[in-house]
Amino acid sequence: MEDWVSIGYLFSAALFIFGLKKLGHPRTAPFGNQLGALGMLVAVVTTILSMQLAGGAEWILIGAGLVIGSLIGYWLAVKVEMTGMPELVAMFNGFGGAASALVALSEIWKYLENADTIPTGLELTVTMVAAGLSALVGWMTLTGSMLAMYKLKGGISVFGKWIKTPTWGPSWLNGVKVLLMLSVGVLIYLSIGEPTNTDYMWGIIGISCILGIVLVLPIGGADMPVVVSLLNSLSGIAAAFTGFIIGNSVLIIAGSLVGASGLILTFIMCKAMNRTLLDVLFKSFGGSGEKASLTRTKVGSDADEVAMMIDGAQKVIIVPGYGMAVSQCQHQVKEFADLITEKFDTEVKYAIHPVAGRMPGHMNVLLAEANVPYEQLIEMDEINGEFPDCDVAVVIGANDTTNPAARSGEGPLAGMPIIDADMARTVVIIKRSLSVGYAGVDNDLFYMDKTMMLFGDGKAMMSQLNTAIKEI
Ligand code: TAP
Repeated sequence: MEDWVSIGYLFSAALFIFGLKKLGHPRTAPFGNQLGALGMLVAVVTTILSMQLAGGAEWILIGAGLVIGSLIGYWLAVKVEMTGMPELVAMFNGFGGAASALVALSEIWKYLENADTIPTGLELTVTMVAAGLSALVGWMTLTGSMLAMYKLKGGISVFGKWIKTPTWGPSWLNGVKVLLMLSVGVLIYLSIGEPTNTDYMWGIIGISCILGIVLVLPIGGADMPVVVSLLNSLSGIAAAFTGFIIGNSVLIIAGSLVGASGLILTFIMCKAMNRTLLDVLFKSFGGSGEKASLTRTKVGSDADEVAMMIDGAQKVIIVPGYGMAVSQCQHQVKEFADLITEKFDTEVKYAIHPVAGRMPGHMNVLLAEANVPYEQLIEMDEINGEFPDCDVAVVIGANDTTNPAARSGEGPLAGMPIIDADMARTVVIIKRSLSVGYAGVDNDLFYMDKTMMLFGDGKAMMSQLNTAIKEI
């Protein structure tokens, strides 16, 4: 029977790996997701089976966990707005880390109840180091993710009063981070000598919680995507450590997959932001979180004027951003592209910035939902060379990702590669006002002579533009 448990875990691990492979392309991603979910189902059933073998599964506990977990999951999924998904993902990372750390803690607790279960020699060292590291990574991920969630939200409402999430990181804080990490190392070392002394574990948990906050506190602005994917990776690493402690192979494999893919995503994000991971974690690049105060003005255009200008354009590049997600205007954007292709024989492409929106792949997901052909979605590095030949760049709710201030080498956006929309012959920008984007930096692109501002909600303005084009 034990062979069946091993086969079940092997099968679920294979499903995770094939699922990840399929996630690599938008067309196959939904199937990849289903494979991953099936892998998790197989892992859960196999675990229950192995518990039954080892002396009887606690059916009441398992049932209660399933019911409570499903209810919370269902409630969150129904309640969350599409624009709130990144915060939800950040929170899920935190819960994942904490769950792994709790499982590791419960294993150490067993030593208190029954001293005969305490391993000896190398096995004890490995178990205590893995438990300490699981606690460090898990609790740090929980508090770091909670802070990241509030940073993505922009603040927290306390008794109806909106308190902005601070971004604060004097250079001496780096010394504190190193000191905290060293103290965790010392506590782990001490815990090996006294596995039944829970004070060490409580110390590790307390310090790790503070560490999560201290690590995320200085990060803001354009660096948030990097920290969210790093936290995602950490939640997987915590699970892998826990897998070692409880001797569960599928937890080690699944945790390592999450850890490794999260780390790859972190490095992709770093590359997109032109940063190194050490810079993000220790240099407080993200800016102070203060929003630039706007003093300049710009006269807005109307949909008829923009439609007339687009009539005759041979090449249009659409630059979507977070505002498209807020207004959910992806269907109107697709209709716009279809209309000008049919009516004016215009070539249309989409320029996708790696951190446009609030989560990796945010724009791809929305545009795929509107059935925009994948071939038209062009990554930033590839499309940037085409802007000098582009008649009109239509920027829909994007701001930081098109802000030329990023090229200046100063401020919260310094060094971040941008979509070169300002190189197009004419730029049309659809947003509600001249206000700043996530990083809080005023955007020179709005004030250029060649820029036409179409002020209003993305969906309303795209609908007006489509009507105006139909009437030409
Ligand atoms: P942002 O710079 O955040 O700007 C979005 C703009 O959308 C705002 O300036 C806003 O202007 C406009 N907007 C909001 N609601 C709108 C609506 N209903 N209709 C039309 N426009 C609307 O967007 P971006 O260019 O996509 O850049 C993303 C930023 O988020 C980057 O700084 C990035 O680092 C950060 N970030 C990204 C991620 C990931 S992984 N993608 C995660 C965390 C943070 P108005 O208020 O004037 O309308």
